[in-house]
Amino acid sequence: MNVLGIETSCDETAAAVVKDGREVLSSVVYTQIPLHQPYGGVVPEIASRAHIEKIGAVVGETMRHFHEFGGGKLDAVAVTYGPGLSPALIVGLNAAKGIAKGLGVPLIGINHIEAHLHTPFLVDPDDASASDVPAPAECMPALGLAISGGHTAWIDMPAYGRYTVLGQTLDDAAGEAFDKAAKLLGLGYPGGPVVDRIAKEYLSAPKKDMIAFPKGRPREGVSALAGLPAELCVSFSGLKTALLRYVQREGEALASEGEIPRVVASYQEAIVQAVADRTRTALRRSRRNSLIVGGGVSLNSRLRKVLSDLAHEADVRLLLAKPRYCGDNGAMIAGLAFFRRNHEEDAMRLDVNPCLEVGE
Ligand code: KG4
Ligand code: ZN
Repeated sequence: MNVLGIETSCDETAAAVVKDGREVLSSVVYTQIPLHQPYGGVVPEIASRAHIEKIGAVVGETMRHFHEFGGGKLDAVAVTYGPGLSPALIVGLNAAKGIAKGLGVPLIGINHIEAHLHTPFLVDPDDASASDVPAPAECMPALGLAISGGHTAWIDMPAYGRYTVLGQTLDDAAGEAFDKAAKLLGLGYPGGPVVDRIAKEYLSAPKKDMIAFPKGRPREGVSALAGLPAELCVSFSGLKTALLRYVQREGEALASEGEIPRVVASYQEAIVQAVADRTRTALRRSRRNSLIVGGGVSLNSRLRKVLSDLAHEADVRLLLAKPRYCGDNGAMIAGLAFFRRNHEEDAMRLDVNPCLEVGE
């Protein structure tokens, strides 16, 4: 079964064709990052306009690669219908509806966060190690960690395609926390990759002197916990304020060589340790076979190392996506659709849902 997947929930216009939910036959991602860079974050109107301008070319190129590869016929079209920016989601959904109707194939609506958790299962046709990647069903029950610029959530996956949120961020997502710190320190947008690079250099030096930033603990009883246990939630607002205060207090020292890397590495460590702590707690609570991680922040080298040690300790299999599938892409949408075909019924009447919940 060949599925065309379309993704336009934020600042990537992406499409892909995936065979039987796993094999990526063609994948094209157009990133709008340079358009949003001057603003230090994603501007919804700019995102929407760029999606309109690029969607045709991105889908066209995806189909061209697919046919060059041997092609065949498309059996379904899948599309992200939430969560995300409403004017951006609409562009992808309308395109997908038109293509599905034109081809006379089913349309499958996909949840963007659930799709991030499918990325470790994607393989490329030329992958020598493809046979080492397990099938989703072999990894259940699993703990999912979706960690990106828009989301940070711990998700129970008792069987493939079933999702319950166990914990989440109460304010900023981890990626957002990286982006805001980079903006404050004048390091550019997006912040994650530059923070990762600077911190890696600092941490590889023999002498390290880390600043003790708060580790993302939410206050017990905060109303935003919405019934979720505090020990499985994070809050990065205190960390952000601590960084701001530090910058205000140490402004002059920050100009000295070596100080920015120390701040950046310490800030990253606070986020990584907060995420690791909640992950460890969730893994201790019930027996699981694997830890499945997806989303742009899963590119972070320090987070990858800490999660790998943690999975080893907890004796669970760690599943991380290849770097090219960590950020937003169409392959994760097309891939998950193969396993979520039960969602196809009323899809032609589907509307975008910017606040779509996991497991809805
Ligand atoms: O998954 P993604 O492309 O989009 C969303 O669904 O949000 O994630 C983008 C986020 C940005 O906040 C970016 O700063 C962060 O992922 N990111 C990283 C790294 N690379 C990207 N964060 C930490 N370390 C990285 N190496
Ligand atoms: Zn995403």
